Parts: sequence; C-alpha cells; structure tokens
Amino acid sequence: MFRSLRKWCFGTVVMVLWVGTFSANAQEPAETPAIDGGALFSSKCATCHHPFKDGTGPKLSGVRAQWEENAAPGMIYQWIKNWEVAAASDPYAKSVSAKKPTSMDKFGDITNDQIDAILTWVDSQVEDSGGAQNGGSQSVSTQEEGSNALWYILGAIFLIVILALGNVVRQLRRATGGETSEGLSYFEEFRAWAWRNLRYTLIGSVILAFALLVALFQTLYRVGVVEGYQPSQPIEFPHSVHAGINGIDCKYCHNSVEKSKSAGIPTVNVCMNCHKQINGQDDQVAKIQKIYDAAGWDPDAQTYSGKTGPIVWNKVHVLPDHVYFNHSQHVTVGGIDCKQCHGDMTKMEGTAMIQPVAELNKIEGNIQLTRPTLTMGWCIECHGETEVTQITGASYNGSSYYDEIHRRLLNGDRSLYEKYLKDNKVTVRELGGWECSKCHY
Ligand code: HEC
Ligand code: HEC
Ligand code: HEC
Ligand code: HEC
Ligand code: HEC
Ligand code: HEC
Repeated sequence: MFRSLRKWCFGTVVMVLWVGTFSANAQEPAETPAIDGGALFSSKCATCHHPFKDGTGPKLSGVRAQWEENAAPGMIYQWIKNWEVAAASDPYAKSVSAKKPTSMDKFGDITNDQIDAILTWVDSQVEDSGGAQNGGSQSVSTQEEGSNALWYILGAIFLIVILALGNVVRQLRRATGGETSEGLSYFEEFRAWAWRNLRYTLIGSVILAFALLVALFQTLYRVGVVEGYQPSQPIEFPHSVHAGINGIDCKYCHNSVEKSKSAGIPTVNVCMNCHKQINGQDDQVAKIQKIYDAAGWDPDAQTYSGKTGPIVWNKVHVLPDHVYFNHSQHVTVGGIDCKQCHGDMTKMEGTAMIQPVAELNKIEGNIQLTRPTLTMGWCIECHGETEVTQITGASYNGSSYYDEIHRRLLNGDRSLYEKYLKDNKVTVRELGGWECSKCHY
C-alpha cells in the first residue's frame, strides 16, 4: 500500500474533505432551527425556574399541558408576557399567581415562537437525579461531548477503511501477479517504505516531534491553573437568589471588601437577620434548616437553644501564601467592579467558582485579559493595561497619596514623569504595579 503513496495521499485528502463537509452539513440544520429554546431558557428563565425542581418559581416540566387543560387557550403566552394581565382575566392564571410569595418577571418583548421554543425545550429535558444545577448549561455540555465522540467514531471508521483498502490492494496485486510484498507485515512494509523515502520520513518526524513538544508545553502551562474550581459547600448558597433576584448588595454580606484586604464571608448571624423570618418552601426548607442548626434556632418554638456551630464554608479563591492581594486597593482605589474578577455573581445559581478568563471576557465592560484567572500573568497583564484615572488625591477620599507621588516625580526625576505621561495615560504598571515586592511578601 505504501508504494502507491500518491494515490493514497489523494484518497486521504478527498476523504478528509468529505468528512469535513459532511460534519459541517450535519451541524448546520442543528443550529439553524429558528430559535434555541435552551439558550433562551438559560438567559431569561433559569434564574427562577428549573425544569424539574421548584425554586423561586415552580418547576416548568409539563406546565404547558397543565395550562392547556385548565386555562383559556393561549393564556400561557399572556402569562409569560405579563402575568398580571393573565391573572386578572383567567381564574387558573390567578390561582397560579398565588403559588409563590415572589412574583414572576414580565417579558413584554418575548414572541409566541420564543415561548414555544422554551416550553418545547423544557418538555424535551429528561430528569437527571445527578442534580445538575442548570438545565441550560447541562444540555450544552452534553452536546459538546456528543460532537467529540462523533469525531472519535469517524476517526476509527476512517482507520478501518484505510486498513481494509490496503488489504484489498495487496490481494489485487497478488491476484494480478504484480510485485508483491507477501509475507511482510504492515510494520515491515512501512519500514521499507520509510527507508526508501528518507526525506519525507525526516520531515514527518520533525513535524511530529514539534507537535508533541507544543502539546507538552501547553500541558505544563496549565499546571497550577485553578480556573473553573468550584468546591462543594455545606449549604448550596445561591448568589442568584440573594444578590440577583432579591438585589442584596454584595457589601451587606462581604462587608469588609471596601475597607480591608479581604472581602470576608458572612457569619451565621447575618443569615439569621433575614432567615429568622424566611424559612423557605419545598426543597429550600432543608437547606435553610442548616442555618438554623448552626445558629441553634428552633423555628417552631421561636427560641435559641444555645447549641451553635459554625457553617464551614470552603474557600474558593485562594492565592498562595507568598502573594499579597488587597481588595480595598482594587475596589475602592482602583474602582474595579467585582464582575471583573469574579464574574456576574448576581447570575450565579450554583455555589461560587473561579471564573475562567474566557467567561470574564464575555461580560460587558470588563477589561479583556488573556492569562488564566488568578495566575501571576493575569495580575501582571491587567496592571500593564489598566489606566489609573484617579491620579489626584482629592478624588480618592481626600487622601494625598497620589499628590505625594506627583510631587516626588516633579521634583525628582522629571524625565520619568514625562515618559509616563507621553501616551497621556498612567498605568498601574507605571506606578509600580509590576514590582515584585508589591505583590510578594
Ligand atoms: C424573577 C423570577 C422569574 C423569572 C425570571 C421567570 N419566572 Fe416564571 N414564575 C415565577 C414565579 C414566582 C412563578 C409562580 C407564580 C407566582 O407565584 O406569581 C412563575 C410561574 C411561571 C409559570 C406558571 C407555572 C405553573 O405552575 O403553572 C410559567 C409557565 C412560567 N413561570 C414561565 C416562565 C418562563 C417561560 C420564563 C422565562 C421567559 C419565566 N417564567 C421567568 C418566577 C419567575
Ligand atoms: C446574602 C449574603 C451574600 C451576598 C449578598 C453576596 N454574597 Fe458572596 N458569598 C456569600 C457566602 C455565604 C459565600 C460562601 C459560599 C460560597 O462560596 O458559595 C459567598 C462567596 C462568595 C465568593 C467566593 C468566596 C471564596 O471563597 O473565594 C465570591 C467571589 C463572592 N461571594 C462574591 C460576591 C459578589 C460579587 C456579590 C454581589 C454581587 C456577593 N458575593 C453577594 C454570601 C453573600
Ligand atoms: C482585581 C480583582 C478582584 C476584584 C475587583 C474583586 N476581587 Fe474578590 N478576590 C480576588 C482575589 C485575587 C481573591 C483571593 C484572595 C486571597 O486568596 O488572598 C478574592 C477573594 C474574594 C472573596 C473570598 C474571601 C476573601 O476575602 O478572600 C470574596 C468573598 C470576594 N473576593 C468578594 C469580592 C467582592 C464582593 C468584590 C466586589 C466588591 C470583589 N471581590 C472584587 C480578586 C478580586
Ligand atoms: C437580606 C436578606 C437575606 C440574607 C441576609 C440571607 N438570605 Fe437567604 N434568602 C433570602 C431570600 C429573600 C430568599 C428567597 C426565598 C424564596 O425564594 O422564597 C433566600 C433563600 C435562601 C436559600 C434557598 C435558596 C434556593 O432557592 O434554594 C438558601 C439556601 C439561603 N437563602 C441561604 C442563606 C445563607 C446561608 C445566608 C447567610 C450567608 C443567607 N441566606 C442570608 C434572603 C436573605
Ligand atoms: C482587572 C485588573 C486588575 C487585576 C486582574 C489585578 N489588579 Fe492589582 N491593581 C489594579 C489597579 C487598577 C490597581 C491600582 C489601584 C490604584 O492604586 O489606583 C492595582 C494595584 C495593585 C497593587 C498596588 C500596587 C501599588 O503600586 O501600590 C497590588 C499589590 C496589586 N494590585 C496586586 C494584585 C494581585 C496580586 C493581583 C492578582 C491576584 C492583581 N493585583 C490583579 C488592577 C488589577
Ligand atoms: C501584580 C502582582 C505580582 C507581581 C508584580 C509579581 N508577582 Fe509573582 N506571583 C503573583 C501571583 C498572584 C502568583 C501566584 C499565582 C501563580 O502561581 O501563578 C505569583 C507567583 C510567583 C512565583 C511562584 C510561581 C509558581 O508557579 O508558584 C514566583 C517565583 C514569582 N511569582 C516571582 C515573581 C517575580 C520575580 C516578580 C518580579 C519580577 C513577581 N513575581 C512579580 C503576583 C505577582
């Protein structure tokens, strides 16, 4: 088979092209259907609804059938567009509106087709007792895994076809009495071919070695990268419910974030400020009971038993001991939003996680960075790009911190000052944000 290499190469190219177009074609119809219900559900509804679990809103699986049975035709569209109007005109809608203490958002600009797509998507979901937190992202990941598997299968089929064809060629040669390589194994045949075509073999080997080297370095670069880390927590605390739907300010719970180095994690007492009254419904009850256990609160007798124990939260973002990081410096002085480094916590339904930099870059208004979150490269890159705007002390709580720097620059090394301002901006780097000792103890 190696003797007719040119034909083989041609065959391979044709095959790859064919496989390529085939898979491109195969994907197109999957993406074009007018509306992606799963994506719409994730972006508009998932903060309150889950297909199979009651949350802030009731579970939605099978809900369309219930409405068709009990409510006026088409009333479910009206409900989703503006539930108040629906509740005023339809008795079933009115009964639904009493289901939960919180009320649903209104979606004035949603179309009937979009609603159909969402409800069809919801009804197409299969209940998974593994308990994924978000139906939307769950289906996305299985889709990706699915297309990966497809490539492996195609690869395997391709290999089998090549080997089978090779065999046919050998048989044909033997039958037509042509030059045979009888008795030689594929490996021996390959070796003989490789010696005859030493130049190609060498070029091929170099390319292969290079590819392996690149792969090795890419793996090494990921060592110590903690992006995507999401430890389990003693209580499944949803930021989306607290900071999102209920609009509680981050500082209410992370109350030292503006004043000190660390942001702080709220104590049980902070939870009790609200949860003494809010004891939740359905699957929330068991979670909120854990707060009561920690506080030693008996919700029935409305008394404290005195038996308390801490909620042991697992730390998510952890820098090594040799690094110094200060929240107030970034949040108060630098004026950087929590979103820039932690992502949009108001949408975080699961427990907190270290957001990959690719996700952070998708958030509107964020400075675009390339290095993985929490690595040294990430800190350095941002310090190299970010402009320090509050350059005069007055704008920073009346402190004279930067005035002092200005004075020193003006009276000392004037050329340095001019160099800094040449591009009309002062970056964190130019103020010393790249000095090892600023970040390292
Ligand atoms: C802010 C939270 C919130 C969002 C966002 C939200 N809902 Fe709701 N939804 C609720 C609540 C709460 C109820 C229960 C009704 C009540 O108590 O007012 C509900 C009820 C429903 C019902 C009726 C359920 C039943 O049992 O009959 C449907 C259908 C529904 N929502 C669909 C949607 C769709 C579709 C979206 C996204 C386009 C959505 N909701 C977004 C909170 C929300
Ligand atoms: C009602 C209280 C509350 C509010 C409001 C709140 N958080 Fe939290 N936050 C917590 C608790 C409790 C934890 C620990 C559980 C966890 O890590 O999931 C936490 C964890 C975190 C973590 C991970 C901490 C770690 O260990 O690295 C970040 C980051 C965070 N919150 C950011 C925010 C941001 C940003 C906001 C505002 C948009 C916010 N939080 C609002 C209570 C709150
Ligand atoms: C410039 C990036 C950056 C910004 C902006 C930022 N954080 Fe952090 N945050 C970090 C880093 C880095 C850590 C890990 C600190 C450590 O391990 O010493 C962290 C840790 C935390 C923690 C865990 C507890 C702690 O203090 O270590 C919480 C909670 C938190 N941040 C909340 C917030 C909130 C709320 C805001 C917005 C008001 C915010 N962060 C803004 C980078 C940032
Ligand atoms: C400012 C008031 C407030 C504070 C403080 C607060 N919560 Fe909540 N929490 C709420 C509200 C409102 C809900 C929504 C209840 C509902 O959906 O019916 C809620 C719901 C919950 C739920 C159930 C969420 C779900 O949908 O599964 C948990 C768990 C919870 N809180 C834990 C905590 C913990 C732990 C703390 C302390 C770190 C805390 N909360 C502090 C107001 C608060
Ligand atoms: C999103 C951009 C951003 C990221 C990411 C970031 N920083 Fe910063 N950092 C700033 C800004 C802006 C300032 C300047 C604040 C000021 O003084 O005006 C600053 C200042 C500092 C300073 C003080 C520098 C000085 O000259 O006094 C230290 C120390 C620091 N950062 C450490 C870190 C560490 C450690 C990390 C990574 C874990 C980090 N930063 C990640 C933007 C960032
Ligand atoms: C803006 C803050 C910042 C500055 C400036 C900085 N570092 Fe780092 N450095 C970090 C952070 C954060 C880590 C830990 C994250 C990691 O391991 O990637 C780190 C880790 C390291 C490590 C350990 C690497 C490892 O893989 O564990 C070394 C060594 C180091 N830094 C040396 C330096 C030297 C030398 C300089 C000055 C040229 C410097 N750093 C300047 C933030 C900084």
